[in-house]
Amino acid sequence: MDSSLLRNFAIIAHIDHGKSTLSDRLLEMTGSLTAREMQAQVLDAMDLERERGITIKAHAVRMMYKAKDGITYQLNLIDTPGHVDFSYEVSRSLASCEGALLVVDASQGVEAQTLANAYLAINNGLEIIPVINKIDLPSADITRTQEAIEQAVGLDATDAIPVSAKTGLGVGDVLEAIVHRLPPPAGDIEKPLQALIFDSWFDPYRGVVVLARVVNGRMYRGQKIRFLSNGRTFQIDAMGVLTPKPVAIEELTAGEVGFFTATIKNVADTKIGDTVTDDEFPAAEALPGFMEILPMVFAGLYTVDSHEHTLLRDALEKLRLNDSSFFFEPESSVALGFGFRCGFLGLLHMEIIQERIEREYNLDLITTAPGVRYRITLTSGEVIEVENPSRWPEPTNIEKIEEPIIKAMILTNEEYVGGILKLVEEKRGKQLNFEYVTPTRVMLTYELPLNEIVLDFYDRLKSVSRGYASLDYQLAGMWTSPMVKMDILVSGEPVDALSIIVHRDHAYERGKALVAKMRELIPRQQFEVAIQAAIGSKIVARETVSPLRKNVIAKCYGGDISRKRKLLEKQKEGKKRMKRIGKVDIPQEAFLAVLRVG
Ligand code: GTP
Repeated sequence: MDSSLLRNFAIIAHIDHGKSTLSDRLLEMTGSLTAREMQAQVLDAMDLERERGITIKAHAVRMMYKAKDGITYQLNLIDTPGHVDFSYEVSRSLASCEGALLVVDASQGVEAQTLANAYLAINNGLEIIPVINKIDLPSADITRTQEAIEQAVGLDATDAIPVSAKTGLGVGDVLEAIVHRLPPPAGDIEKPLQALIFDSWFDPYRGVVVLARVVNGRMYRGQKIRFLSNGRTFQIDAMGVLTPKPVAIEELTAGEVGFFTATIKNVADTKIGDTVTDDEFPAAEALPGFMEILPMVFAGLYTVDSHEHTLLRDALEKLRLNDSSFFFEPESSVALGFGFRCGFLGLLHMEIIQERIEREYNLDLITTAPGVRYRITLTSGEVIEVENPSRWPEPTNIEKIEEPIIKAMILTNEEYVGGILKLVEEKRGKQLNFEYVTPTRVMLTYELPLNEIVLDFYDRLKSVSRGYASLDYQLAGMWTSPMVKMDILVSGEPVDALSIIVHRDHAYERGKALVAKMRELIPRQQFEVAIQAAIGSKIVARETVSPLRKNVIAKCYGGDISRKRKLLEKQKEGKKRMKRIGKVDIPQEAFLAVLRVG
């Protein structure tokens, strides 16, 4: 298609500000979906996404729109996820667009991801159209939202478009603005092919599917292509676009976005950010790629039933096919047996993977406490990276420990600043900036150890701000910190899967809180169970689970069989997520107790 008639755009927003709803409305108004096909939030394809209302994978949808000038334009909507864990996917999506709709909820105003995503778009050189959503709500305040966009984001919001994605009000203006305010792509169809891979996934029916944006030249069915990063060649056997139903096409020309399949066996061959070129007439150079993303949060995953260990490995391998940001390797634990050390982008990512394994593969999991990757210089001079507490070196062999830190941006109303300052201080934060972005909104910029964030930071932030604080963060280097390994002993035996890494100055409190929490979580047994926290050979805290007096059935007088059965079933249900360690049954919650002690 004539590239002057193309518009590639993304919708960026803080979570829940209405990105998916607006996407649906655009699809509906361009006739991409008939009313019958219209189902709430069609872009969130995976069940899990739909249920949680969050978008995980980037998608691209083509719409044909006949504008008021009588001309039909091709609009490509690149979907972007809204959660901090997935901000790398946002930048990836933005690289294939010329413009973005910045959606701001008129009842909430500008939030941390509004800012973070707007900055990403600005840095990518995108043209931005501010869209003020949810104007149907009684609490909507268009003028204030406009001011906030100008003051906090620094964008001219005079032409911001007020809409209700829910009712469709104003959405027609958004379509006209996309056509008239966003620039067409600049590529040249006559140049050798250069196409940017911005997503790929494994489809059980089609094999590896690659989503790409053609920057220069053309790509067609039957073409022999080459990946510039590894020199591998493939022949394109099918091409298509999503409308959002997949539709087969014969070619993609400069500026267009679509997917192709090409006898690629392994998703690992398709590197996100790689350039695809024509094998016969190759482009001289690759397009700028993307930053490699690295997992930041690590935890052990084990099956409750140790016989299911190989099933877990199969599940992880399959999941990894579609999620290159997720990492795993085998590990073993004295307490839990064989399992896997997994790396995630953040806590939400971890939860999603865990849920998918349990739901799609029907496995019950035990997850150990999440932690980060430390860089340790040994006295021998060797530098090692450790993300598993059970591989922590002997303290006498340690010269220096460095921990990852993040730069966090917290946006809140001024009345919550006091509580938040206390929280970030407790979490070992260092203030970098304190700024009023509007007369009532404050932006705090802090450096914080990632280790403190992965525990309960979100929840604590939410509670001290009554939900009126939003957070965005990125990795920002390492700090040298006196970290120590804290072991948990159950009935005198150290349980390796319960060990955690803590800051030396916090070890005593953390240990005390942790064993107190565990005492609540570990069910009473027929005998007394001691729970201790220890650093090296020094016990820092101790609690006792007192023994059970009676067994449950003894409570049922008479022969009420159904009640008895119910109780037994209840007990069995409770057992499901327990792991027997020595003589003690430890429930899943106890492994994550550290997440619940602030
Ligand atoms: P993520 O995909 O999780 O980032 O969220 P999102 O930004 O896509 O938000 P989504 O479209 O899921 O909308 C969040 C909530 O706001 C949903 O409950 C929508 O029904 C509601 N919502 C979206 N637009 C409007 C609107 O114009 N008016 C009202 N009243 N509610 C809206």
